[in-house]
Amino acid sequence: MKLLIINGPNLNMLGIREPEIYGRETYSDLCDYVGEVCERVGAEYEMFQSNHEGDIVDKIQAAYKCFDGIVINPAAYTHTSVAIPDAIKAVGIPTVEVHLSDITKREDFRKVSYVSPVCVHTVYGKGFAGYGEAIEYLVR
Ligand code: DQA
Repeated sequence: MKLLIINGPNLNMLGIREPEIYGRETYSDLCDYVGEVCERVGAEYEMFQSNHEGDIVDKIQAAYKCFDGIVINPAAYTHTSVAIPDAIKAVGIPTVEVHLSDITKREDFRKVSYVSPVCVHTVYGKGFAGYGEAIEYLVR
């Protein structure tokens, strides 16, 4: 089982950006956490972060026939992108959407996800543990 973990814009700023919402742990801590979970469940993985929508689309396309599952936190693109869900549909790879915060309890514009309809599962409001849940969901 080979998993691609994609993180969208500003998630490289974890630990610095709005710690009251996203916590004090850094992107590097998130990479370590994902690594530990993947080792425990016996999955190979690649971690990818970009602030650019087109780069995320390119990465999803390149995953075709190379990865068995995708975990994606599209960050702000969740609420704006049509290209990212189109790419997920195009490659047909089972994808789980993750959000660190509870997007259902924040501003109205965050309540809309263009990505959810093409995902097999969505996890939100569980911090780093949400990535663990997403990985375990795909492994199962
Ligand atoms: C986020 C929620 C998004 O609304 C926001 O734009 C992010 C992070 C989350 O992980 O909670 O950048 O995806």
